[in-house]
Amino acid sequence: MKDVELFNDHFQNYKTYGIPKAQLIIADIPYNIGKNAYGSNPSWYIDGDNSNGESELAGKEFFDTDKDFRITEFLHFCSKMLVKEPKEKGKSPCMIVFCEFEQQFELIQKAKEYGLSNYINLVFRKNFSAQVLKANMKVVGNCEYGVLLYRDKLPKFNNGGRMVFNCFDYPRDTDTPRIHPTQKSVPLLERLIELFTDAGDTVIDPCAGSGTTLLAAAQCGRKAYGFEIKKKFYADANKIILSRMQPRMFV
Ligand SMILES: C[S@@+](CC[C@H](N)C(=O)[O-])C[C@H]1O[C@@H](n2cnc3c(N)ncnc32)[C@H](O)[C@@H]1O
Repeated sequence: MKDVELFNDHFQNYKTYGIPKAQLIIADIPYNIGKNAYGSNPSWYIDGDNSNGESELAGKEFFDTDKDFRITEFLHFCSKMLVKEPKEKGKSPCMIVFCEFEQQFELIQKAKEYGLSNYINLVFRKNFSAQVLKANMKVVGNCEYGVLLYRDKLPKFNNGGRMVFNCFDYPRDTDTPRIHPTQKSVPLLERLIELFTDAGDTVIDPCAGSGTTLLAAAQCGRKAYGFEIKKKFYADANKIILSRMQPRMFV
């Protein structure tokens, strides 16, 4: 098995691939925001400018597959694919889910049914906002939200004995592939991966989109596996992953 691999399949079919269990699962789940998918995105307007009027994306959902996403199936996958709770302290696995603000509550609630009873809420603070283009909004969003979920013991944590704030800076990064419209910044993912895993650990992203988690994990010397159902996303992301991977990653 390769150290880094993206599969063009539903994460629900994970057993077919025999991938190792993860120290860290990172997922940016579909937001289930239905017909307002572009509500905080400049492409709601023609050429991203509200004085041009609405574009064909205004009032549309992102992708037809998003509405089929089931949080319970996702949590089942995560509960099976995180490494078992170790006896020692400081080695436990965890998962980080990027999500829409209101999805946090459902995630925290349902995760308990899958043994992921503890959480830390996370905020990712940008110094920019896509929403500023909207004339009708005076208070504009510049944050993304997430939850870190874990079972019993606190997760593995590498920060030289120092604490971190739960509000992380979200670095703008022009090098991050923009295959999916809500792509996550690779430097932010690298920061999270370095905090919660060691070199050689496995990171899994069941909803890989642009493949950003796999790129970040590989760049940090972690094993990385991901699933993406959309053929085009998979093909474009896989091309970038293969082109940026160090030959040493393939053993
Ligand atoms: C919010 S996007 C992820 C974006 C990604 N973090 C990035 O940086 O580009 C969620 C992705 O999950 C994919 N997806 C939805 N349901 C899935 C499933 N059951 N299995 C695998 N991928 C799925 C969607 O096609 C979409 O690309």
